[in-house]
Amino acid sequence: MIDEKINQKYLKKIKLFQKYNKHYYNLNNPIVSDQIFDKLKLEIINLEKQHKFLNHKDSPKNSVGFRPSKTFKKVKHSIPMLSLNNAFDKDDLINFEKKILNFLNEKPNFILEYTAEPKIDGISASLIFKRGKFICGLSRGDGKEGEDITENLKTIKDIPKNIDSKNFPEDIDIRGEVFIQNSDFKKIENKFANPRNAASGSLRQKDPNETKKIPLKFIAYTFGYEKGLTVKTQSEFLEKLKEWGFKTNPFNKTIKTIDNLIKNYNKIEKKRSEIDFDIDGIVYKINEFKLQKRLGNVANAPRWAIAHKFSANSAISRIENIEIQIGRTGALTPVAKIKSVNIGGVVVSNATLHNEEEINRKDIRIGDTVLIERAGDVIPHVISVDLKLRNRNSKKFSFPKICPSCGSKTVKDYNFTTKKEDAVRRCSSEGYECEKMAIEKIKHFVSKEAFNIEGFGKKIVENFWNLKLIRLPQDIFKLDFSKIESLDGWGKLSVANLKYSINLRKTITFEKFIYSLGIRHIGLENAKIIAKNLKSLKNFVELSKKNNFKDLINIDGIGETQINSIKNFFKNDTNLDVLENLEKVLNVKNAEIKKTNGLLNNKTFMFTGKLVNMSRSEAKSIIEQNSGSIVSNVTKKLDYLIVGEKPTSRKVDAARNFKVKILNQFSWLKMLK
Ligand code: IVH
Repeated sequence: MIDEKINQKYLKKIKLFQKYNKHYYNLNNPIVSDQIFDKLKLEIINLEKQHKFLNHKDSPKNSVGFRPSKTFKKVKHSIPMLSLNNAFDKDDLINFEKKILNFLNEKPNFILEYTAEPKIDGISASLIFKRGKFICGLSRGDGKEGEDITENLKTIKDIPKNIDSKNFPEDIDIRGEVFIQNSDFKKIENKFANPRNAASGSLRQKDPNETKKIPLKFIAYTFGYEKGLTVKTQSEFLEKLKEWGFKTNPFNKTIKTIDNLIKNYNKIEKKRSEIDFDIDGIVYKINEFKLQKRLGNVANAPRWAIAHKFSANSAISRIENIEIQIGRTGALTPVAKIKSVNIGGVVVSNATLHNEEEINRKDIRIGDTVLIERAGDVIPHVISVDLKLRNRNSKKFSFPKICPSCGSKTVKDYNFTTKKEDAVRRCSSEGYECEKMAIEKIKHFVSKEAFNIEGFGKKIVENFWNLKLIRLPQDIFKLDFSKIESLDGWGKLSVANLKYSINLRKTITFEKFIYSLGIRHIGLENAKIIAKNLKSLKNFVELSKKNNFKDLINIDGIGETQINSIKNFFKNDTNLDVLENLEKVLNVKNAEIKKTNGLLNNKTFMFTGKLVNMSRSEAKSIIEQNSGSIVSNVTKKLDYLIVGEKPTSRKVDAARNFKVKILNQFSWLKMLK
């Protein structure tokens, strides 16, 4: 009897432990602090020590799902680990190839060769080898900085630790995917939602002995920096990897033309269920390294590669309600709350309806029976409505004309480029005046690519908002930590950690600072361009104080839309208050003036007319690679006007007027030697 009582108590704790674990690993959304979790773990272990008959398979002593410690050393990647753009159908592939041919200034009938590599859904890692010895292994992290997980990676048998092939480069970082095979996952599937989570959880264990318990695999597919690599194509590189002792994907192919890529895609998709690891698409890469180099990157992804995702899973469900979510920029996004349905192993209860136009076009209504599709990590969406099953009394959905959060008018902007009204309806408030927008703005402020305050996730923002601890970004730097310590789920250590991560970010780069403000149309790329040109926060503030907005006009890449958006930002008093207060507590570093010894250092260029054998984009990218910069207007500050075929005479005349040097394409290329 007594034993039964103890057993019940024990099982209750195990159940709680499973719940916390599930939220932490599978849902990636911890619901309790580390301390509460550790306390529970200790209670279970103590009970087991006192009563030998207690022995549950999910006890923390048996569990591979131990919480990883978050104290891995951070290491900068010598070359960023990029992500890939996605393609879903033939049109996307045609578009991808068209852009490449345009960039390379090649005719539409030019034949490009690709490697087609099935995309394993695992965790990417970068392995640094010096003189054949594996010396350091990093996780992807945010792409720029990863975590040192060398010891855990060393437990993976597929990773060679010493390579003595003569042709192995002297210095190289080999990149690939860590994953778990489906057959191995079966043995531990009660602990994780899917193989990817299992691999990720295991790779981030603090104790490599825990990692060792899960049979992780590694497949190599690319490299970061290299010294002494002699191959000229990706397919040759994949062959070399095998020679050096790495595993590569057995289904890799080298293929010409989009039609053949699609044939291969269909074949692999059919085989998908027979393969012992999860693949979610096929990665296509331009085979020739020389072309890859010319093509370079856009934002976070290479121009020379794309991931062709496998088609989605779908299921029928019913729309129970349509809710309106308000995003950071005020966009009203309708979300269908649907009757929960399992789509390809994932329980789905929400589907995005995109925007007002989509609802009208498909005439989606509450109560409708709909076909829902889910593709990989993309948010599920409604494909079609079954009109036959529609209730006769159903009413057309009426989209709110006032913001459900703050009551401001909702508006649709006119898009000057497409000359059409936007599909998206927005709350007309500038930002912090609308509660939902303000919360989203703060989430953006602390997010990974902005201030990157570790441990300050979306849930915490919502929590602190509800407790009235934060209203504006500057409140983050004035938090009352003693109050937080007394909150449920917080303790001395977790508060100390939070304080530490906040203090750590008080010094920030100028570009991240601009991005963090969440100004509409100013994403990471534009923030970078503005930072590079304005150089300091002082100059940014002076845009408005001294009405210096004209300084933005000449920046290549910044157009009327962005400038208007920045002007609107400065028109709002709360934004000015945020800026002023942040300036007081932060150390915003001036944009680094890169000490590059590029041949075109400090020189500005502008193009007019058509270039021979080269697209405008490639010409721009060459200038930037050589530390020069492009401007979009002829002023006396311009150093060179490069003139192609049929130039605009107004620009040439203006250049003559300002005594700007005028070069033809040939003399410009000569400057580059
Ligand atoms: S190449 C610069 N090749 O896909 C190109 N990535 O969405 C990026 N992945 O983070 C890497 N299989 O984790 C490349 N054969 C393959 C891949 C592959 C899977 C993953 C990788 C990357 C993600 C990008």
